[in-house]
Amino acid sequence: MTASREIRIKRRPGALPALSDFEIVTVDVAPPQPREIQVRNLFQSVDPWMVRAIREAVAEKPAPFSKFGPAVIGQALYGGAIGRVVASRAEGFKEGDLVQSMEGWRECFNIGAQEVQLIAPDGIPPEAYLGIAGMPGLTAFGGIIRLAKVTKDDVVFVTAAAGAVGSTVCQLAKLEGATVIGAAGGKEKAEFLREIGVDHVIDYRAEQNIEEALSRAAPGGTSIHFENVGGPLLAAGLNVARPQARIVLCGLIRTFAGEEQTLPGNLMRVIRQRWRILGLSSGDFMGEMQEFRAQMATWIKSGKIRWKATIDHGIENAPAALLKIMSGENIGKMLIAFE
Ligand SMILES: NC(=O)c1ccc[n+]([C@@H]2O[C@H](COP(=O)([O-])OP(=O)(O)OC[C@H]3O[C@@H](n4cnc5c(N)ncnc54)[C@H](OP(=O)(O)O)[C@@H]3O)[C@@H](O)[C@H]2O)c1
Repeated sequence: MTASREIRIKRRPGALPALSDFEIVTVDVAPPQPREIQVRNLFQSVDPWMVRAIREAVAEKPAPFSKFGPAVIGQALYGGAIGRVVASRAEGFKEGDLVQSMEGWRECFNIGAQEVQLIAPDGIPPEAYLGIAGMPGLTAFGGIIRLAKVTKDDVVFVTAAAGAVGSTVCQLAKLEGATVIGAAGGKEKAEFLREIGVDHVIDYRAEQNIEEALSRAAPGGTSIHFENVGGPLLAAGLNVARPQARIVLCGLIRTFAGEEQTLPGNLMRVIRQRWRILGLSSGDFMGEMQEFRAQMATWIKSGKIRWKATIDHGIENAPAALLKIMSGENIGKMLIAFE
């Protein structure tokens, strides 16, 4: 038997979870059964959707990860993770292999081999597969390349621009030659955005009037609005969006903090402005994941795309890391390292 710590929720919080809503429990993991592997996690992803999974008792609709509905009280939470195979009774897997699973929030587990993806080494760090070369990166790609079809003539405004999705959107848009305006909270994030080539950076914590700052950066208006947050940033962004702008709704993280989001202003403006409102779901692009990863690995190795992660250590710090993204304390992808 191997001891493994895991994180569960004790109760379903009505609002943002507090640290006291989580518990850490040690369980025994038996040796793997035939066709199973035993995995020890190296990194775990910490994502905004996890707040929703913890808060909501009922899934709104089956998601692409349909087996992963709302978190269950008294069971380990779930989420993206990269781990190393420590024992294998499954064909095609050997000790030392790296695998990706949805078995985050636990140190060690047994799993059927068909439920994990083998990670073939391709010269980028394994944790990149949870961020820029994983689901958040693919979300950015799906939104800015596939849905918005960004070109060099576009002026793109991105909110939560220094986050996992946002920083990838900014760089993919720059690779296509677009002008990019990024909004993020704080000096360090603003510095990061300048380093990755964002043309105009708006530190919304320091800026008195976001709409004025946006109008200065884009005097002719924006042609793509990429939304990750909602609230005042969305309202200001729409006020400078040109007629026929593509409005990509990727995330409204403020809803996870308990604030319902509506389209600011009268819906008639969508008609008058001929806006194209594009709802984005990463699940729609999962079929492109392998190709996307290979392309992203090439961009990273050639220095064309850069990435950052905020890495906290130890499973016991995973709940605090989740609260950190809700208060904007992460730059780039929020991760937990287990070793
Ligand atoms: N549609 C999809 O398939 C899909 C897939 C993945 C992610 N998403 C969405 O994409 C967005 C970004 O996700 P991510 O994983 O890349 O997270 P992230 O941007 O790395 O982290 C979240 C960031 O959101 C901002 N934020 C958090 N709470 C806020 C609040 N109350 N008000 C203003 N800003 C707040 C903070 O940055 P600042 O303070 O710098 O703004 C924080 O750092 C989220 O809305 C997420 O739900 C959607």
